[in-house]
Amino acid sequence: MAQLEKLLEPGYIKNLKIKNRVSMAPMEKQYGDRVGNITQRYIDYMVERAKNGVGMITVESTFIDPVGRGNIYQIGLWDDSNIPSHKRMTDELHKYGTIAATELHHAGRNASTYKTGFQPVAPSPVPCEVSGGYMPRELTVDEIKELIKKYAEAARRAEEAGYDMITLHGAHGYMLNSFLSPYSNKRTDEYGGSTENRWRFGIEVFQAVRAAVGDDYPVGYRITADEFVDGGLTLDDTKVFAKKLEELGLDYIDVSVGIYESAHMIIQPMDIPLGCLLPYSAGMKEVLDIPVIGTGRINDMVFAEKALERNEADFVHMVRAFHADPEILIKAQKGDMDDICMCMACNKCIDLMFSDQQVCCTVNPAATREREMALRPAKEKKKIMVIGGGLAGMEVARVAALRGHDVTLFEKDNELGGSVRWASKGKYREEWWQTARYRIHAVNTSGVKVSVGKEVTLDDVKTAGPDVVVVATGTVPFVPPYIPGVNKPVVTDYVAVLLGERAVGKKAVVIGGKDIGLATAEFLSENGCKAIIVEDSDALGGDLGGIKQMVVLPRVEEDTNIDVKLNSNVEEIGDDWVEIQSKGEREKIEGIDMVVFAAGREMVRQLDDDINREGIVPEVYIIGDAAWPREPIDVIYEAAVTGRRI
Ligand SMILES: Cc1cc2nc3c(=O)[nH]c(=O)nc-3n(C[C@H](O)[C@H](O)[C@H](O)COP(=O)(O)O)c2cc1C
Ligand code: SF4
Repeated sequence: MAQLEKLLEPGYIKNLKIKNRVSMAPMEKQYGDRVGNITQRYIDYMVERAKNGVGMITVESTFIDPVGRGNIYQIGLWDDSNIPSHKRMTDELHKYGTIAATELHHAGRNASTYKTGFQPVAPSPVPCEVSGGYMPRELTVDEIKELIKKYAEAARRAEEAGYDMITLHGAHGYMLNSFLSPYSNKRTDEYGGSTENRWRFGIEVFQAVRAAVGDDYPVGYRITADEFVDGGLTLDDTKVFAKKLEELGLDYIDVSVGIYESAHMIIQPMDIPLGCLLPYSAGMKEVLDIPVIGTGRINDMVFAEKALERNEADFVHMVRAFHADPEILIKAQKGDMDDICMCMACNKCIDLMFSDQQVCCTVNPAATREREMALRPAKEKKKIMVIGGGLAGMEVARVAALRGHDVTLFEKDNELGGSVRWASKGKYREEWWQTARYRIHAVNTSGVKVSVGKEVTLDDVKTAGPDVVVVATGTVPFVPPYIPGVNKPVVTDYVAVLLGERAVGKKAVVIGGKDIGLATAEFLSENGCKAIIVEDSDALGGDLGGIKQMVVLPRVEEDTNIDVKLNSNVEEIGDDWVEIQSKGEREKIEGIDMVVFAAGREMVRQLDDDINREGIVPEVYIIGDAAWPREPIDVIYEAAVTGRRI
């Protein structure tokens, strides 16, 4: 049983009692409807988390005006017609004793005409390249006054919709944040220039909201404590502003950081350490008496407890952790730590949000599909052979066994894990193992029989006589056979390198500059080997996703052990040299002791064909990368669906 004393203590915000200190941070999920109403899918998602013990939930950025809508399927409280659907959700959350907060939001300079149909408005015409570069129009003073009324109207609606508290979204570069910041507020009137003038909009919004909801209703503020851009706000600036709001009657502060230009600090990928933002909430606690909510890559309840013990926050916001496993809190309470499907900060969810897609999760295929993915017992028990112990194989085996089937999982290597075994190697990639770790545990505890260290043959299948075979044999690295010199001893591939099967040399050419090529180059560099990346496109990390790129690309650029050749292809490989060509120019890279292929994968898929040709098994599925190589989110999802289909 984990010691979670502080975390499970009730807390108060104003007079509102919250049953514990665990709070779900706001997360846009992209499944409101087109006018900002809450859908049944949205409610299902929230209920799944509320019923598993979280003390309070802040739903997501909730737009107060269609001009400031951030995303197409964002929820809104911009019109009275939004109230009933929000009320349906808050009623459901209250059944589980969960406090519901909304987060009033205007995207300001981060809005895009493509999504809203309007030119964005902002304190000043300072566009944000990260959100599309639309030039915002400077608000007039009359428009500012109108906008303040819109915040107040939305606050009134929030109260009518049954929310227990309101957070003003003053973070992440949106409207409130952009007025506060000298980086984005270039005005010379009473709303810009001096510190007091930059504060004015935030203070007037707070006061108007307070007037709309009354003195007894908790109103808080989500603040970007540090913008992480040159000329932007720092903790010293925001502490003073937060103190001012406290003096004016603010009830709590929720401490985040970053704006879109520093989005990797808002939603930190696995490259950034756990609890990275706690120094900012701790900093706020030094000057404030109101409750402080801490956030940022807290994916583990024991870690959250320690943050409270160190007095770095009064409440702990976690959101991706609940996305990945809605039961994380109750599992931790019971001490079932191994049973937790942990968020590994792969940031696929935010990449999906930024591309207007439903915010699914790599490790939890049921996230956002709670109702349809509920496990139901199999109608007829079947004997199932799952071949391949990677993510897809483990997921299908786990699900099928939980539904009552007789499942055996076969892996030719000596351990389960498949591609995660190598994908989790290197200083910044270890968290990938979390998803394999969870599934190995799940397979071992769900009644699946596991056989490792022997490759399954057609004869084995004939002898076993299963009702169902699922082939999930994954991929191997693609090494183009037609490149002259490709069979020389100097040549190897990323799997051999990352798994330590091939000793690291002194100077390597790495072919491929996407995610796995970069991972291989960084791994070599960490181990004292100079790496020269040869990438055929004109940019590195094309498959990384926007936020990961913000972290990985500068790191690779600063690594003096890594050189990069873009727009380049390998022409020929010698014993200790590689000839590349770039736009018709040839170059010989000499003195190398490794050529590592890290571009492309080949599917391992003979067995399903053999079984089908012989017609010996009634049901055969080929899933995961063996069907076609994709991202882990697609592979796990396909396995989860197949496990429910059989
Ligand atoms: C998909 C996604 C959507 C988010 N949407 C919001 C949002 O609507 N409002 C907000 O203030 N923060 C939003 N965030 C930031 C989170 O609230 C949180 O601060 C951040 O993810 C770090 O916490 P975590 O490590 O617990 O996920 C979002 C994060 C993600 C991953
Ligand atoms: S998609 Fe990745 S980052 Fe997002 S919640 Fe799931 S595991 Fe965490």
